[in-house]
Parts: sequence; C-alpha cells; structure tokens
Amino acid sequence: MVKIAPSILSADFCSLDREIRRVSTADWLHVDVMDGMFVPNITIGVPVVDAIRKHTDLFLDVHLMVEKPGRYVEAFARAGADLLSVHLEADLPPAIHDALRAMEANGVKKAVALRPITAAEAVLPYLEEGVDLVLVMTVEPGFGGQKFMTDQLAKIRTIRSYIDRYQPGCDLEVDGGINLETAKLVTEAGANVLVAGSAVYGAADPAAMIAALRG
Ligand code: DX5
Ligand code: ZN
Repeated sequence: MVKIAPSILSADFCSLDREIRRVSTADWLHVDVMDGMFVPNITIGVPVVDAIRKHTDLFLDVHLMVEKPGRYVEAFARAGADLLSVHLEADLPPAIHDALRAMEANGVKKAVALRPITAAEAVLPYLEEGVDLVLVMTVEPGFGGQKFMTDQLAKIRTIRSYIDRYQPGCDLEVDGGINLETAKLVTEAGANVLVAGSAVYGAADPAAMIAALRG
C-alpha cells in the first residue's frame, strides 16, 4: 500500500496544531529540516519537532537537509522523530554510516536521501547496511512548490530493483513536485511512500487529496 506523508513546509506555521490536524488521515508527517548550508533555506529545528511530537501520534518522518547531519541524530531522536533521513551528499561515507548507527542506537528508523544529481548506485552500500528507507528527491532540495523532475523516474526504477534484490523490506520514498499526475508516475516506477507539500496543503479538502494520492 502507498503511504502519503504531507510535508508541513507548506503549512501555516502560525497554526501548526490545526494544520497537523487537517492531515490526520495521512500515514506519516514529513518534517523538512534545513540549515541554510546544505540548502539555501532555513526552516525547522529540534524544538519544533519536540513541540509537534506532543500534538500528534502520526509517524514523524524527519528529512535532514543539513551539513554533517550526524551531529543532530541524537537530538532529533530525543525530540520524538520516528525516522531520520540523512543526505549522502552531506558528509563523507564513514560519517554517514556512523549517523545511521547512531539512529539505530537511539531507536529511530534510518534512511538515506539522494539529491537529483546523485546516482542510484550510491545507495548500494547502505542497502547492505540495512536502511529502512531510501528517499529520492525529485526536485532540488530547499523549497516546496517546485516542478517534478521527470528524469528522476529512471533512478526510482533502478533503486526499486536494488531494493527488491538486496533489502526487500526497505521503503522507497519520493519527495518533490508530487501531485495527482506525478504520484501515478512514481508509484508505477516503484515508490511506496509519497511526500506531498503543496498538493495536500493547497487542496480545499486535504483528506480527499490524501486519499486520491494513494491511488
Ligand atoms: C523540499 C522538501 C520537500 C517539500 C516538498 O526540499 O524536501 O519535502 O516540502 O514540497 P512539494 O510537495 O510542494 O514539492
Ligand atoms: Zn522533504
């Protein structure tokens, strides 16, 4: 079954409690953490995740778009994240492996994320390590509301084939430019978790949009 993870980046931050309740029929809640270094934008930090955790039982999928993310694994785990994803481009491979081990030690699900420029093959050592999820970006990370990059579909298909071969329990998440049309393309390519920011929060009826995106 396809899981839908609305991104609160497109929510009204002055009314987060209400905005989270508007998407309560979702499977997961996607939280975009940006540091102004790995990406140009600055968004949400540990105290906000801690506050969100007190208001919802939704699975918190925390996407770390920060340099040297291993520095923050323990803090986000303590704040109540259920899953953390770190970008392969955000540090050297040994440090990314250390960050994944820290996630395991802190009892959160572990994931790696790929910018559009990064090749599918880059996930292979991490599948071997047993990651719970691979996140494929279908826009340049940094901002909501961008156009889906169709050239990422081939990468999604390749990573799906790697997952089926080496780590069948691993989820494949897609993030960026997901709407009713692109949701169909990425699920056909093998994705099973879809992040959607503007499509869900821009809809008159977010619950209906979530149901429609599931397909
Ligand atoms: C972008 C973020 C996304 C973003 C998606 O860097 O990682 O999660 O919120 O927004 P939409 O769905 O509007 O492309
Ligand atoms: Zn994201």
